[in-house]
Amino acid sequence: MSDITVRDLRFPFEEDFDLNVPDEALSLMLSSMALSMTMPYLEPYLIRTMGVAIPKLKNPKLAEDARHFSRQEANHYRNHANLNRRIRTSFSPAGAEALGRIESELDADYRRFSREKPLRWNLAYAEGFEAMTCAGALAMAEFETFKDPYRNPGGEIWGWHLAEEIEHRTVAFGVFQELVGSYLYRLVFGSRSQYHFLSYTGRFFRCMAEDLGREVGMPRTPVESRAIRLFFRTLSPGYDPAKLEIPEHVSEMLAAFSERAKKKAS
Ligand SMILES: [Fe+2]
Ligand SMILES: [Fe+2]
Repeated sequence: MSDITVRDLRFPFEEDFDLNVPDEALSLMLSSMALSMTMPYLEPYLIRTMGVAIPKLKNPKLAEDARHFSRQEANHYRNHANLNRRIRTSFSPAGAEALGRIESELDADYRRFSREKPLRWNLAYAEGFEAMTCAGALAMAEFETFKDPYRNPGGEIWGWHLAEEIEHRTVAFGVFQELVGSYLYRLVFGSRSQYHFLSYTGRFFRCMAEDLGREVGMPRTPVESRAIRLFFRTLSPGYDPAKLEIPEHVSEMLAAFSERAKKKAS
């Protein structure tokens, strides 16, 4: 049985965002919003990749974890798609259109990767993304940034998503190890995937800032410095997400979200 819990939650996004805030706060908000914009394209791509990988897995526990991973990612991107509808309305019609053009390009990239790239390449992408995200999520958990309203435009979706990213951190790594298993391949193509992903979050970020007529850079706070240090550890040949130290309150957060999902279902 998998230790990864699927929580069918939906978060309401009714409030408009106030982007008329000082530079540092805006930088945090736009950074989260840029991340959200990628999710309805990235996460379905991860699910498609797992769909190809799962029948090839010999380890039944890992296959079950991979199914739960995909169901968690499906819940994530559906919520982010709703959040993104709200995000687009915070910008001018021309700004929303420009965001839409970047979204279409990103979607086309991921569909092409699923169609044309070998499974090992797509698995290295998945693991590269998951390792980087887990490093960021852990840094945020250590600093308890889930309470910072500027890092959480849209509210609880961020705490829920990042806690579940930590919860399923071993899956993409485990699937890559079983089906590919090459450290060098993970390093080279994982880094390639991180570059691809970050180039899009950068484009979303700049597009939003430009539409607002604001000159802000990507956030550089102690949380980002910590995330970068944790990220560098993922590049080591000895990296194993199962061995990462997880702050205690992450399991408390997950338990609270599990309760909510159970209540909603009953
Ligand atoms: Fe996710
Ligand atoms: Fe994930």
